[in-house]
Amino acid sequence: MTEIRFDNRVAIVTGAGNGLGRSYALELARRGAKVIVNDLGGSSSGQGASPGAADRVVDEIRAAGGEAVASHDSVATREGGAAIVQTALDSFGQVDILISNAGFLRNSRFEDLTDAQIDPILDVHLKAAFYVGQPAYRAMRARNYGRMLFTGSASAMFGHAWQANYAAGKGGLMGLSHVVAIEGSAYGIQSNLLLPTAVSRLADEMDTGYTEIPMFAEAIGQAEFGVVGSRTVPEFNTSLALYLVSEACSATHGIYSSNAGRYARVRICAGEGWHATRGDAPPSLEDVAAHFAEIEDSSRPAEPMTVYDEIVEVTASGRRAGVFD
Ligand code: NAI
Repeated sequence: MTEIRFDNRVAIVTGAGNGLGRSYALELARRGAKVIVNDLGGSSSGQGASPGAADRVVDEIRAAGGEAVASHDSVATREGGAAIVQTALDSFGQVDILISNAGFLRNSRFEDLTDAQIDPILDVHLKAAFYVGQPAYRAMRARNYGRMLFTGSASAMFGHAWQANYAAGKGGLMGLSHVVAIEGSAYGIQSNLLLPTAVSRLADEMDTGYTEIPMFAEAIGQAEFGVVGSRTVPEFNTSLALYLVSEACSATHGIYSSNAGRYARVRICAGEGWHATRGDAPPSLEDVAAHFAEIEDSSRPAEPMTVYDEIVEVTASGRRAGVFD
């Protein structure tokens, strides 16, 4: 197979001073991309700032013969996002790739979460996708080419106790990426969501107090961490992330799980469902209760890629059920 290269491509990787972002930046540069290594350099709970994190990765890239420029701006403000994209334009004249990856955790019980735990988490995960994503998208649109990869989380798609703030931010990115993919399809811009898995410094923020929830403690008890352990390093996520932002990849509007070397598409589907009886009378609660097993049945899933695809599917399944002409 032809080697996948990023020559003449300019990539912004946010949060590239550590963990996953660092691994993406190193490999992008190794494969020929010019990389903006963005990192605010704070702690795993988003406190403080230091240029060292981004600078060290830039030094590593340059030492290996690659091209990179550091950016120390925060993704969590409109000005910071603009400055990150401007750094790419000033340094290399274009933006082809955005991997929106910066982030941190502030976990707590749902009922105890304070605004100091909610707002900064929504800012760094969700609003940053606008702050960095919008100027990056404009630069991509001007050249009719772009690859965007947003960093979601299994915590949002599947659930993790004590992370309602984080899951809300990460879950919002799914909707954002879907819409960017639809709009970007007119301008050569693709957008996908990656759900990575790696033991990183974020592990320091994982207070195991969440085991107070019995069903969650039981789920944790069944997870065989010892079996997957050696594959839960950042580097096991890098090839899928980079494939998704490569020219070789035509996939867009997708959600992908990268978990201990298992790479899989995650789909948002609706089942065939149950159709209310033919006619204009809405069903009663008792009708819904009587048909709840059919509503729950996912044996014939369909994956609408727009709101209107769902209407097409509803019409088709309604005809099969005999409720529409
Ligand atoms: P990490 O802590 O090693 O790296 C995150 C980087 O983002 C840090 O270097 C940090 O300084 C930087 N950062 C934080 N706030 C910033 C800001 N306002 N502006 C610019 N940079 C900022 O953590 P890791 O694990 O590599 O996480 C990367 C991304 O992947 C995060 O969005 C995280 O939520 C997400 N993620 C990680 C998972 C994991 O298993 N490690 C699972 C699912 C998602």
